[in-house]
Amino acid sequence: YGAVVNPRSLQAYDLWPRCLLAVNAKGVIDWVVEDVQPHELQDALASKGHSLETDFVALKDGEFLIPGFVDTHTHAPQVPNMGTGGQYQLLDWLQNVTFPMEAKFKDVSFAKTTYESVVRRIIDSGTTTCCYYGTLHLEATKALADIIHSFGQRAFVGKCNMNRESPAYYVEPTAAASVDATKELINYIRNLSPAVSKEEQLVQPILTPRFAISCTDELLESLGNVAKADPQLRIQTHISENLSEIAFTKSLFPKASSYAGVYDMFGLLRDNTVLAHAVHLSEDEVNLIKERKAGISHCPTSNFNLSSGVAPVGYYLDKGIKVGLGTDVSGGFNISILNAIQNASIASKVCSFNPKERPDVPAPVLTDKALPIATLFYLATMGGASVCGLEDQIGSMTAGKSFDALLVTVQNNAGNPGIWGIETFEQAEDVESKVQLDGWFERFLFGGDDRNIRVAQLATTDSNALHRPRVRSIIV
Ligand code: GUN
Ligand code: FE
Repeated sequence: YGAVVNPRSLQAYDLWPRCLLAVNAKGVIDWVVEDVQPHELQDALASKGHSLETDFVALKDGEFLIPGFVDTHTHAPQVPNMGTGGQYQLLDWLQNVTFPMEAKFKDVSFAKTTYESVVRRIIDSGTTTCCYYGTLHLEATKALADIIHSFGQRAFVGKCNMNRESPAYYVEPTAAASVDATKELINYIRNLSPAVSKEEQLVQPILTPRFAISCTDELLESLGNVAKADPQLRIQTHISENLSEIAFTKSLFPKASSYAGVYDMFGLLRDNTVLAHAVHLSEDEVNLIKERKAGISHCPTSNFNLSSGVAPVGYYLDKGIKVGLGTDVSGGFNISILNAIQNASIASKVCSFNPKERPDVPAPVLTDKALPIATLFYLATMGGASVCGLEDQIGSMTAGKSFDALLVTVQNNAGNPGIWGIETFEQAEDVESKVQLDGWFERFLFGGDDRNIRVAQLATTDSNALHRPRVRSIIV
């Protein structure tokens, strides 16, 4: 019982200062009543077969719940590099900064130690669902999946496919070896929770051709065949991030109509493909992505940091393409989706300074506009859920969805120093408390950080997962 902020659409979000919701033993939301006055609580609970004495938790003043954040694109093995390399652009950055670090994950014990702290940090920053790239190493990526699973995070985990245009010390020897290792990883991950259905498993495999440049035609074709045989299998890759990358891609695939056309040619562009960056797409590519119902992971921090450009996300949204946010560590220098929200806001303002002619969007709503809070919040939650094909399972406080939620605090107390001084929650007027909650929420989005996230609650649908924190044990 307490304040909840919930994404409703790209245009609006709900502020419920006095929401009562129930979570069942599996961590799934049973029901939600948006507004219950304190004096109505007893009756409201009784009508659902509960009471104030059992199973009841009230949030404190200065606390509110939001759905957990979805990071649709990050690289776990690049976290140790975070904050370095911003002097480079993509292709030089890969050679000089990224490949040398990723190569170290050949050492499985190094991988385990590193991944444990990486995953813990990502969860603590409020990411309850995450699309992870590992390295090209099978064993290290198995270890990554094990760790994520044991921590109880919802995730997609892929091993990079890369058999060319990579340094000799960090490249797969053949397309066949790359595909074999990929198949083994898929089986391994699906066996982490053998009793749980494929769609309900918290940790799922994802096909991860690193980007077109690093894969031969033969490899992409084989991966397309793996995908075709397994329609539920998600796919993630990079697209149209940097101008030199795009030119090089075109030279490697002269038969493809475009960068997006490369993936399409091999059956890798479909409704559960997650395309990271999409900074410089042509109109034809945008239409192709829309037609294939693929999703875009908007990675604004990385796009600024590697001088890649500014993705016109408002335009993609007006076109009806699914979009989520990605941190793209360590192209991006922050693991937190809050930071991605902040930079997505800035990126949209940069677009608004320089509006483009878009004859294919006759009635623009978000195209080249500063994105409002509703849109940013939606991208970080529901948008990400849709990009992952999890829109029925997570992303909002809706009955039937998993209670993957963040308990946010704006309190300033000894146990958990907030950053804005002491405020008390005015219970009096409905309008006033909504305005106050809205103020807290906005300041959390733009001025907050992991100190304001008291706990990331992860649902308990997968009983094989071990360390799932229960929100109740933390609040009481
Ligand atoms: N393109 C291919 N690999 C990478 C990577 O690791 N990070 C980013 N940002 N782009 C890529
Ligand atoms: Fe990336």
